[in-house]
Amino acid sequence: MYELNKKQPIILGIESSCDETAAAVIRGRKILSDEIASSADIQALYGGVVPEIASRAHTDAIAQVVERAVKNAGITYGEIDAVAVTYGAGLLGALLVGVSFAKAFAYALKKPLIAVNHIRGHLAAAYLADERLKPPFITLLASGGHTAILHTKSETEFEILGATLDDAVGEAFDKVARVLGLPYPGGPHIERCASGGEKSVPMPRMLKGNGGYNFSYSGLKTAVINYCHNKEQKGEGIDKADVAASFQSAAIDVLVEKSVEAAKERGVNTVTAGGGVVANGYLRQTLSAACEKNGLKLVLPERRYCTDNAAMIAAEGLIQYGLGNFAEYSLTAKASIPLAATLETVQSRAAKKKE
Ligand code: KG4
Ligand code: ZN
Repeated sequence: MYELNKKQPIILGIESSCDETAAAVIRGRKILSDEIASSADIQALYGGVVPEIASRAHTDAIAQVVERAVKNAGITYGEIDAVAVTYGAGLLGALLVGVSFAKAFAYALKKPLIAVNHIRGHLAAAYLADERLKPPFITLLASGGHTAILHTKSETEFEILGATLDDAVGEAFDKVARVLGLPYPGGPHIERCASGGEKSVPMPRMLKGNGGYNFSYSGLKTAVINYCHNKEQKGEGIDKADVAASFQSAAIDVLVEKSVEAAKERGVNTVTAGGGVVANGYLRQTLSAACEKNGLKLVLPERRYCTDNAAMIAAEGLIQYGLGNFAEYSLTAKASIPLAATLETVQSRAAKKKE
């Protein structure tokens, strides 16, 4: 049987939900290795991710990426206690590459397979940033597909305090980048462009100060589009850096304000965050200043563990390992998973049998 009570299990994480083929090894909450091969450069030529190109790039890279992760971790294959893999949400063909590889790998090693939800991985990244981090805390989820404030009550229990009513914040960054003629993926380019600008363009602050912990980004996106079109029609140029800085502040200030407000209201003294947008320097600075001002402890994953990576998949795998929540070999990929289902912890047959 599996050594379920082993204190510091070694977990291999595999991620292939979008354009990053990633593998990482953790021992307990310590990262031993972390490898990524990205097809983003090729995708940038098309202005977004082309699913078939992503699937082919994963197929090409996955064996080498996993091999490198194991080698750089300084472990043998036999020392791996479990293989955790992203099964959804994401691009179906891309996910299937990781899932199929992980299944075969776990089967060959005779080690348990763990099915990880990509967004749960983003949330679990904070545990790698601070080995002593323990719920309860407030979590800001700011990714390409989701924007929400959660009350994390335990490693597997979450309450959604608020979420976006329309677009996700990352999606807004990507769309605004396109309007400004910046390359894919938009977030980092907007951040770079904004660093040379002033917050001088008026932007709507959607649901700021009202709407509870909910967010709305479609109005902000439209405001940027209208501003640029109006200027163009009048034959006036736009200062891209000023537009980027103004948009970035309008998009992020509300996230910071509501995260702090939620912690104060719930009487929780720790805040964490996860998802690609948490790599944004302006978000990191403003959230950290706001937490400090309000006497809250902030635990942020390092930038590289905010965007897609496999260490976060291994981190969520570690939680599921502790529960004995193992996947069957019939595991398949799922393209879309609603936020409520994402936050539910579905027990596998193996875990139920253990009880
Ligand atoms: O969390 P993620 O991998 O998406 C989902 O899993 O849904 O993050 C991708 C998103 C993209 O929208 C990207 O533009 C954004 O995160 N992003 C950023 C930055 N880096 C990535 N947004 C703002 N500033 C950044 N530095
Ligand atoms: Zn992601």
